[in-house]
Amino acid sequence: MNASAPDTAATESLLAFWSDAGVDACFGEAPVDRTHVAPPPPLKAVARATAAVVARPHTDEAVAEARHLAAAAQTMEELAAAIASFTGCPLSGMGATRSVFSRGDASAPVLVVGEAPGIDEDTQGAPFVGRAGRLLDRMLEAAGLTDRVFITNTVFWHPPGNRSPTPPEQATCAPFLDRAFALMRPKAVLLVGATASRSVLGTDEGIMRLRGQWQEWRLAEGGFSAPAMPTLHPAFLLRQPQAKRQVWSDLLALTTRLDQLTDPSTAKL
Ligand code: URA
Repeated sequence: MNASAPDTAATESLLAFWSDAGVDACFGEAPVDRTHVAPPPPLKAVARATAAVVARPHTDEAVAEARHLAAAAQTMEELAAAIASFTGCPLSGMGATRSVFSRGDASAPVLVVGEAPGIDEDTQGAPFVGRAGRLLDRMLEAAGLTDRVFITNTVFWHPPGNRSPTPPEQATCAPFLDRAFALMRPKAVLLVGATASRSVLGTDEGIMRLRGQWQEWRLAEGGFSAPAMPTLHPAFLLRQPQAKRQVWSDLLALTTRLDQLTDPSTAKL
């Protein structure tokens, strides 16, 4: 008799329930039987566990280390390697299986910045490769931008449960993002969604007010700056397809500006 069939169905159903509730990350190597009520751990073990948590690098130290690593990177490949070696972002210890940095051409004229890698990005190791990414790609293609973009995010590890990254998590990764911007020196930037727009521009303004309006992303150190266009996130468009026309209008503004910047006869426009 095959006794495992009903168990498999029950397990699948439980996993689907957890997945719908946003539980998509495992934190331990071995399963834990939470149906068994264990006696409280001895005091020493609790003290050790607490010490391990306290021993995590403080955000300021992590930011300083990120700055140091980022500044040492002279190429985009070195920057990718520096990010992969960095353990100071709290997200890297929360179930993400790897760092996810970029895809596209580092010498392209447009830098696209999204929020954070999702579960598909964590699995495949590249940004915007899931459903939202496919929609973004279709829109970039329609705007003639497919080969003119380099794509990254404000953080480089998948946040558990697909939540948005917190400001301290973004602050920890910001030196790497800033360095990518400085190394690439794009002609224009597309900020995808509220979280990326607010973090890069340092504003609390809502995305509906920001989108469609040219902003300036200026680095505090080094003085490099580029025009930045905030737009709506493709994950939002999957839920609200009628908003695609707004993103389309933002992409047209971006291509028009790019064409002006690359056409010497209109360079002063
Ligand atoms: N959403 C993002 O903001 N970035 C990704 O890489 C994927 C989904």
